Amino acid sequence: MDDLRDKYLGQIAEAADEAALEELRVAAVGKKGEVSLKMRELGKMTPEERQVAGPKLNALKDEINSALAAKKVALEDAALDARLAEEWLDVTLPSRERPRGTIHPVSQVTEEVTAILADMGFAVAEGPQIESDWYNFDALNIPSHHPARTEMDTFYMARATGDNRPPHVLRTHTSPVQIRSMQEHGAPIRIICPGRVYRADYDQTHTPMFHQVEGLAIDKDISMANLKWVLEEFFSAYFGTKVKTRFRASHFPFTEPSAEVDIQCSFEGGQVKVGEGDGWLEVLGSGMVHPKVLEAGGIDPAEWQGFAFGMGIDRMAMLKYGIPDLRAFFDSDLRWLRHYGFSALQVPTLHGGL
Ligand code: PHE
Repeated sequence: MDDLRDKYLGQIAEAADEAALEELRVAAVGKKGEVSLKMRELGKMTPEERQVAGPKLNALKDEINSALAAKKVALEDAALDARLAEEWLDVTLPSRERPRGTIHPVSQVTEEVTAILADMGFAVAEGPQIESDWYNFDALNIPSHHPARTEMDTFYMARATGDNRPPHVLRTHTSPVQIRSMQEHGAPIRIICPGRVYRADYDQTHTPMFHQVEGLAIDKDISMANLKWVLEEFFSAYFGTKVKTRFRASHFPFTEPSAEVDIQCSFEGGQVKVGEGDGWLEVLGSGMVHPKVLEAGGIDPAEWQGFAFGMGIDRMAMLKYGIPDLRAFFDSDLRWLRHYGFSALQVPTLHGGL
């Protein structure tokens, strides 16, 4: 019995894992284990012998069982310690830099322009980029054979053969949103509409898709003076410096009178600086909304009048952030985007700075 005890207690102490421990349990105290077989021999003993051997065998069985249990706990503890040591994590390490995109200058400037004009009470309106020729032209007092239709280098959508309705167009300006907004809200109205517009044109300052922001204010007593004030306020807030404007008489079918607006700038050393010098740069078209346009929008021109303007957003971005070539805006060149792009956290607000 002492041999059995030494053998099993020794082997249990040495067991490397739970599988080895289980093998030892079966060999010692399992149904056909050595200790169990010895217990079966008790029956063949004399009562005197049994009285001595019985308790001893039971004690041995108990001792082996508790040694097995203790070793099992020890093995589990060791396994846990090993895992803890291996899966160690330094939560104080700085995180890895993740590639982060930038906000495109057009998006940034759209936000800036919207923030300034919203502060003056203009609501943001939207319209479709694929527009009927009625909204894009007719309603804006540009009838079918008007030269403005060809001047605009319009992209026409294809119609199915046999479908003789006039084709839809990719809107050539944001002005159709004037009509849609008038129809939807009536007068008085004060809206801006930033968005994409399309013209078949491509050089350093023209791309087939670009961005405009339309402005429209209609009420009973609106005049060119209000237009001039709004634009001068706008440019000064946008460029962060007092900017003089120059209104040049011009012509648009949808405004009467019409004016093209230039902002003051200098061109010294090949660099454009807004708000100084005695040069001028054309930035937008504007005027008093034509009575026919009011009518097309369902507004009575005998009662209401207003101004409208249309400004190039990309042009405004080039001027403010010194970006020389418009085409690069839409090349999706990552180096360009990283250089001219804005941080997502740099949200333009009137109070935080534009
Ligand atoms: N729609 C004109 C353009 O794209 C700009 C404009 C808008 C002019 C509103 C006058 C009034 O050139």
